[in-house]
Amino acid sequence: MVKVGIIGVGTVGVSVANILKDNADVISARAGVDVIVKSGVVKNLTKERGVDIILTDNVDDILNDDEIDIVVELMGGVEEPFAVVKRALESGKAVVTANKALLAYHRYELQEMAGTKAFEFEASVAGGIPIINALRDGLSANHIESIMGIMNGTCNYMMSKMTHEGVAYDAILKEAQELGYAEADPTFDVGGYDAAHKLLILASIAYGIDAKPEDILIEGIENVTQDDIAFAKEFGYAIKLLGIAKKDNNEVELRVHACLIKQDEMIAKIDGVMNGISVVGDKVGETLYYGPGAGGDATASAVVANIIDIARSGKSTPMLGFNRPMEGKLTLKSTDKVRCKYYLRINVSDKAGVLAGISKVFEANNISVETMLQRPASNDSANLLISTHTALEKDIQNMIQQIQSLEFVNSSPVMIRIV
Ligand code: HSE
Repeated sequence: MVKVGIIGVGTVGVSVANILKDNADVISARAGVDVIVKSGVVKNLTKERGVDIILTDNVDDILNDDEIDIVVELMGGVEEPFAVVKRALESGKAVVTANKALLAYHRYELQEMAGTKAFEFEASVAGGIPIINALRDGLSANHIESIMGIMNGTCNYMMSKMTHEGVAYDAILKEAQELGYAEADPTFDVGGYDAAHKLLILASIAYGIDAKPEDILIEGIENVTQDDIAFAKEFGYAIKLLGIAKKDNNEVELRVHACLIKQDEMIAKIDGVMNGISVVGDKVGETLYYGPGAGGDATASAVVANIIDIARSGKSTPMLGFNRPMEGKLTLKSTDKVRCKYYLRINVSDKAGVLAGISKVFEANNISVETMLQRPASNDSANLLISTHTALEKDIQNMIQQIQSLEFVNSSPVMIRIV
């Protein structure tokens, strides 16, 4: 028999305990042994959780329990779970975590600490989709040319509802929280950080890159409005928060931001809490992974898969980076060097000479306009909605600085990159 201790019995922890119980028949058949939850750790023992396991508020009850074989870490946060996982590995226990923030900061140290002991994290990226398994094992023969996709269920749920039902941003964020999709601090979702944590994990497996969130471009969906959605619809785009990793010779571009993406692309059609990730390998071509990216049961499905794997083999090979340096080591590309098309929303005073003034700044920065719309915003102001031809990020950023200092520009322009 394999015994599990769950540290953090919230939405996902409850689902892990319930799946191990509800699906015990197929789980024990696949693992070749019975797998049971011995106990779980919670902060508040008085809260009703709808789970039939022994609960404690002392993490030592699990870490010092010699009968517990596998520690499942679902606490959230970074430094506290790092200390807990470290202790679990030191005491010879296997560890399964769904904690992408922990891995974004400490993944290589944890891999080193684990050595040949089991340390698994399938649920950390894209909830129920086995993307880690696909990238680490199924596609390991390939140079990975790109990884691009929807990696945050909360943002996708919000953007879908704002686009198709016109629901207001705050109301829909509240709904995503109530449905158990959002992080404890939803800024991690809407600010793009959660997707960035996931992208860094995938980039480690695909490229051996050791970057931290601070090293890459991260923007969220906080500034997207119904004006932007209307422009996107008019020109055949959807707006999505995407994580993008792209190899360009020996450099890898890593970025998370809202994107305008053509409506006929498969990723543009993925709505609701669903995630969808495209991985292009040099030999296999494009592969696409689709499924629920958040929610208790979907995430717990991936956690329990790791538990079963450990129960049957006893070990794992985390393989976050490469086993030895690759010839022509890949490095992180500077954000300034990103090239794409851009969409800009500029709120201006509605008077003569404004368009001429704006177009002068475009010209001075060598940026060419592809399409433009003007929408009244109030009695005396208007929104200019502009898309550009391909330009360099550095030039766009310079241009935005210059535009916002123009006397007839009312607020900082909003920019969304076009994929
Ligand atoms: N808050 C995350 C999301 C949960 O919305 O995708 C899954 O990692």
